[in-house]
Amino acid sequence: MTGNGAPKPHALRVARPADRVDNGFYGQDIISVRQFSREKLSYIFDVADEMETLVRRFGSADLLSGKVLANLFYEPSTRTASSFMAAMLRLGGSVIPINEVRYSSVSKGESLPDTVRTLECYADIIVLRHPEVGSAQIAADYASKPIINAGDGVGEHPTQALLDLYTIQRELGRLDGLKVAMVGDLKYGRTVHSLTKLLSLYNVDFYFVSPDILKMPPELVADVRARGHRAEEVEDVHEVIADADVLYVTRVQKERFHDLAQYERVKDYYIIDPELMRLAKREMIVMHPLPRVGEISYAVDQDPRAAYFRQMENGMFIRMALLAAVLGKA
Ligand code: NCD
Repeated sequence: MTGNGAPKPHALRVARPADRVDNGFYGQDIISVRQFSREKLSYIFDVADEMETLVRRFGSADLLSGKVLANLFYEPSTRTASSFMAAMLRLGGSVIPINEVRYSSVSKGESLPDTVRTLECYADIIVLRHPEVGSAQIAADYASKPIINAGDGVGEHPTQALLDLYTIQRELGRLDGLKVAMVGDLKYGRTVHSLTKLLSLYNVDFYFVSPDILKMPPELVADVRARGHRAEEVEDVHEVIADADVLYVTRVQKERFHDLAQYERVKDYYIIDPELMRLAKREMIVMHPLPRVGEISYAVDQDPRAAYFRQMENGMFIRMALLAAVLGKA
């Protein structure tokens, strides 16, 4: 079932009507950022604010006690996997972590549909990261419990985009009227694909900064322009640094290259360092979904405009909000 339809019938049977909150997310899959409107985003952001207060004051709560999350990762992850896990644990739920599918029946040749149909026998919700575009939708088509897409190849990474948008809103106090520069691997970076779609709900201008072989997919550029946004594609970050309110830096996605020699040629194309930061506005922020592999120098970490560590902490609050919303408890 897609994320846009009615709650999954099976999931509806799981929660007792009396103790669930109908918030538009209950029982839904989270597959793409296209499922979100400005209203839905502001609802999730409000709940995330409450989750932060909860964590700062009490550390944890029992909102999701008795609920089980299956964390199914076919690709490496540090932040996404552990922040989903921390989010579930801090809300009183439990987690089945499958971080290394080599040790599961996947290595015996089990298909994705069979693996998710197995896990939903034990869990109330499944978080899935998989190397193929469209895999989260396939999982959702087979599963009757909610699926959350934690990255489907070069496709989407909706929960990352939610935490990115939440970070921009918190750091700069607004989303409308901003100039957002995305830098690095715009071809294979799923985080920038999802974030671009989400930002196009706001009055934002885009700078897409990449080497020629790593440009943003043309259909995405065409889409934001068709929605009335200014979107400029440039190669030199110096052309945009003074104008940007947000500098969203990405890693060159080595694992997506067929030709490693080509990766070697572009891997150090951009290095954000204090010298470049001197050209930026005082009010701008530098973001990165992380991990970084050299594209932001460590000397930038001291700069108050470096928002990437705050950004990753926000990820846990956003994922707490989403889990509570999808499980009908927000
Ligand atoms: C990103 C991803 O997996 O797409 N990481 C993350 O989830 N924070 C970015 C990356 O791997 O470069």
